[in-house]
Amino acid sequence: MDEPKLPLRTERLVLRLHEPQDTAALRAYYGDPEVVRYVPFAPWDDESTPEHMAKRVKRRGLTCEARGLGVVAVLDGRVVGDVALWSTDDAQRLAEIGWAFHPEVAGRGLATEAAAAVLDIAFDTYGLHRVAAQLDPRNVASARLCERLGMQREAHLRQSWWEDGEWTDSLVYGLLESDRR
Ligand SMILES: CC(C)(COP(=O)(O)OP(=O)(O)OC[C@H]1O[C@@H](n2cnc3c(N)ncnc32)[C@H](O)[C@@H]1OP(=O)(O)O)[C@@H](O)C(=O)NCCC(=O)NCCS
Repeated sequence: MDEPKLPLRTERLVLRLHEPQDTAALRAYYGDPEVVRYVPFAPWDDESTPEHMAKRVKRRGLTCEARGLGVVAVLDGRVVGDVALWSTDDAQRLAEIGWAFHPEVAGRGLATEAAAAVLDIAFDTYGLHRVAAQLDPRNVASARLCERLGMQREAHLRQSWWEDGEWTDSLVYGLLESDRR
């Protein structure tokens, strides 16, 4: 399996691996309770931020030990979001994708642009068979993003995980290599 050549330029963004100096930029949005409302961790604080960053800087490609690729999206020199792709089964070429962007840049198609580029990497560079996304059904912005990316809504799992003191449903979106042909 080849690794993608990074940094990668899209129409408006530069996508590159996480570096320790991105900590403040990522905390600017992951520290916002609204941004993490539907993700399975609390807003980043002084204690958790270094732990989150330590994991992220290790996601340097699906063939690395972390089995994940995490890229930050840089707009005009500023980190405004990130997209992660992680292997769920190396042998069967299955992966999951996830994303978050700073609310200040919402509504401009930047998450779509970055995630589409990561899906190109998933299928064209890594040769994956399937990429899935799992999300809380209340996360309408994320579901719309999946749909803009051409992912199909495949399942609505009822009360499939316990989070913040309540059972939470989960939507599964999927994109197959054959869907793209
Ligand atoms: C999920 C998330 C990244 C989506 O952000 P977003 O701003 O809605 O997505 P985009 O950047 O792709 O922007 C799309 C919007 O811009 C509009 N847009 C403007 N120009 C566009 C363009 N060139 N291309 C595509 N869309 C464009 C679209 O119509 C869409 O607006 P709409 O939702 O009102 O129809 C964001 O809500 C987020 O970070 N959420 C918190 C983290 C999170 O929950 N992550 C997922 C966990 S599963």
